[in-house]
Amino acid sequence: MAQMIHSDVERLMLSEEQISVKVKEMAEKLDKLYEGRTPVVVCILKGSVIFYADLIRNMQTPVELDFMCVSSYGSDTVSSGELNIKKDLACDIRGRDVLIVEDIIDSGNTLYKLKKILMERKPASLNIVTLLDKPERRVVPMEPDYTCFEIEDEFVIGYGLDYAEKYRNLPYVGVLKRSVYEK
Ligand code: IMP
Ligand code: MG
Repeated sequence: MAQMIHSDVERLMLSEEQISVKVKEMAEKLDKLYEGRTPVVVCILKGSVIFYADLIRNMQTPVELDFMCVSSYGSDTVSSGELNIKKDLACDIRGRDVLIVEDIIDSGNTLYKLKKILMERKPASLNIVTLLDKPERRVVPMEPDYTCFEIEDEFVIGYGLDYAEKYRNLPYVGVLKRSVYEK
């Protein structure tokens, strides 16, 4: 079925269908990884909320849900390099298997710092799954354990990702027109 594309979108990068196929595959991999265990699956608000909801619904493994809100971005498209914890986890992760669910890894700053903070809490294990990865943009050594899609260095929106808090509810991932942020 033809998809209605938002007028601020330059081009469609990942369709709903492509995303859904990949999310199901990823859920199966994670089921194998966590077989017989109950991981705490951490949603990094707000960008990963859509991916998170789809991913956990495709997992058969029992999971506990928790949420964190961190930011290293304002309404700009370049990372500031600083991590601000706006909302911390509700549960104690000491001795637990923890899976961090992220929307996109760009410079790597956010996850690099977040991983350090969470490792200090002594989880039994900590894995990172990301929907998108822009490996070309990395400024710190930060490799996710699981990646759904590696993408080129372009600013994308939709399926949870925003530009200035907009476009998160688009069901696909699209490249934002430069004219929207280069005004
Ligand atoms: P990093 O700290 O540079 O790796 O940035 C990670 C965060 O930057 C993500 O969680 C997003 O919120 C944001 N981000 C990076 N690239 C994009 C993009 O192309 N579109 C939307 N948000 C992005
Ligand atoms: Mg963002």
